[in-house]
Amino acid sequence: MTREAQRDLVDLSDLTPEAICQILERAKQMRECPVPLWTTGVRHVGLIFSEPSTRTSLSFVAAAHRLGAEVLELRAEASSLRKGETILDTASTLESLGASALVIRDADPDTAPLLAKQCEAGVINGGGGTRSHPSQGLLDALTLIDEFGDLEGKCIGIVGDLLHSRVARSDLVAFRALGARVVMVAPAPWQDESLAGTGVELETDLEAVLPQLDAIQLLRIQHERLDSQEGIDPQQYQQQYQMDQRRLEMTKRSLVVLHPGPMNRGVEITSEVADGVRSRIRQQVANGVPLRMALLERAFGEGQV
Ligand code: CP
Repeated sequence: MTREAQRDLVDLSDLTPEAICQILERAKQMRECPVPLWTTGVRHVGLIFSEPSTRTSLSFVAAAHRLGAEVLELRAEASSLRKGETILDTASTLESLGASALVIRDADPDTAPLLAKQCEAGVINGGGGTRSHPSQGLLDALTLIDEFGDLEGKCIGIVGDLLHSRVARSDLVAFRALGARVVMVAPAPWQDESLAGTGVELETDLEAVLPQLDAIQLLRIQHERLDSQEGIDPQQYQQQYQMDQRRLEMTKRSLVVLHPGPMNRGVEITSEVADGVRSRIRQQVANGVPLRMALLERAFGEGQV
């Protein structure tokens, strides 16, 4: 891998398990670093978000500020993308304004790889279609490492709209790279059949799986990516898959609950569980900042990883 390629993060499957561990270690160090970390020179991070975001975009902004970088934040709906400018020309414009690191979120999963290939800036995929959300996969892994020390042999359930979830795909790569057993749970129409034969366990019966789990990641139904519910009745989904107090009591007492957000309270998770003592959802959000500091440092080519 070239030095340039090491600056980009398009998909976690491009990283070795060792590289994933190094980024996670650097993220832990970032929690303790002086703020700002960089006290000399001017650096710019360009953010291009053409799909909605709260956590990812704001934590990249916070991460850039803590490092000492300035942010050029482009919101697609208020930008010249609306006038027909291509995303590549938009990225090139941000580079001309000084951005040496770019974060891109786009509905087309091929956009981040395209920018990584064409741009001189280090490119981080901030969420690409249904394919990849690498920084989320890493911060979820960091949250579980904080909890358990390591993930070797831990059993982690990923539950919900697997077919449309970029988080599920990135979590799967991160958790397995760290030695976890992953069970993917969804109604049959939302199972990702491309995972058959890869060693990932695919299940439809959540209650049968619950007693085995050390952690559970709950996913929202991605209404914006569904065609007419794709044969799934939301009420039936709630009855069979909603994480509520009754189902929580079927799990190990040490189980922790994750959700990448945004949550649809009362659908895939009840407020009692989301705000309860087993929830690590707020820690996930908080971990987004040091983790993204480590990724930005790497994207600028200044990192130790
Ligand atoms: N988890 C996540 O990507 O959240 P946002 O869409 O709010 O960034």
